[in-house]
Amino acid sequence: MDEIKKNFPIFTSNPDVVYLDSAASAQKPQSVIDAMNDFYCNSYANIHRGLYNWSENASMLYDDVRAKVAKFIGASDMSEIVFTKGSTEAFNLLASSYRSLLIDGDEIIVSEAEHHSNFLPWKDLELQKNIKIKYLPILEDGSFDYDWFEKNISDKVKLVCVTAQSNVIGLKNDIGKIVKISHNYGAKVCVDGAQLTAHDKVNVSVLDIDFYVFSSHKIYGPTGLGILYGKKSLLDLLLPYQFGGDMVESVSLDKVVFKEPPSKFEAGTPPVVEVVGFGAAIDFIESIGMDKISKYLSGLTTYLIAKLSEISGVKFISSMDSNSIVSFVIDKVSSFDIGFLLGKNNICVRVGKHCAEPLHTRFGIDSSIRVSLGIYNDKEDIDKFIETLKKVLVMLR
Ligand code: ALA
Repeated sequence: MDEIKKNFPIFTSNPDVVYLDSAASAQKPQSVIDAMNDFYCNSYANIHRGLYNWSENASMLYDDVRAKVAKFIGASDMSEIVFTKGSTEAFNLLASSYRSLLIDGDEIIVSEAEHHSNFLPWKDLELQKNIKIKYLPILEDGSFDYDWFEKNISDKVKLVCVTAQSNVIGLKNDIGKIVKISHNYGAKVCVDGAQLTAHDKVNVSVLDIDFYVFSSHKIYGPTGLGILYGKKSLLDLLLPYQFGGDMVESVSLDKVVFKEPPSKFEAGTPPVVEVVGFGAAIDFIESIGMDKISKYLSGLTTYLIAKLSEISGVKFISSMDSNSIVSFVIDKVSSFDIGFLLGKNNICVRVGKHCAEPLHTRFGIDSSIRVSLGIYNDKEDIDKFIETLKKVLVMLR
């Protein structure tokens, strides 16, 4: 793992910067930048439209990455992988398309720990349909209240929306358990995998997950690309979310026949270059090995928690069992003042509500400081962060 940082050119050009904000977006290895650059420089064209080599090559690269993503998360078929512009668009697609499947009186369970992107689209749906959202509470240690869940799930619940790992608490949730309980009542499960997928092997088939969402940019790939996994039988039921080119079999003035999934959800020119870059990101991750990544980051997280625990006034919001994400407040000192001064000293962390306001309200705080790790971080980064934080606290206290 010592050599990994060298694969990220941004750290070679900026040796003084300590980047601890990978949960917001991860840095990109040279191989991802090269794959995109090479495609633009040597054979760029749109996909599924041209009868010449460049376009045929682009189509092949695009479709190959879809197969690679399916394998990466254990989907049984590449048609279960829909490319979107990001996780946010994937949730919006799902909420918009789910509208026609719900009837008056149906319920959706959404956890209190959700990022706004797996929260607001369902809230909007509640405003538009006569349905009810119930909020799955979070216990003091950051875990889901499974007792509440077992008491509140019923056959009225059509969908359960939960995160596999909160972007604030960092604890991995027991998705297998949530899925089993939900399926006993016929409810489908939509899992936000945006954080977990960066450092954990996920198998949607083994876990029997119905919908799984994650982003390329958080796992060392380019921005502008999200992935919506859906079981084929469910994607077949959903209506398209946007309409345009490359998503129809035939169009006449009075009849439209949509293509099969995933094409019917990918109207217009997709992020072709980003998909190519994401293929290289998956290759990069697999060349290291997800188990190794997970173990390394878990060890580094333990080190970070231990070092932070030595500072007086630190109160953790994240779980002690978190992997890669550590959120905290410091008694009587503004998180924003700390974040600002850390930033001025080239230490990059995130400060605020992290797009998870209900979770901050649950813990009675208006903001927190979040340190999040990527595979390029090491103990030296954490030591620099702690040293700078101590200096900043001397100034602020
Ligand atoms: N969702 C990203 C975060 O948690 C941006 O920071």
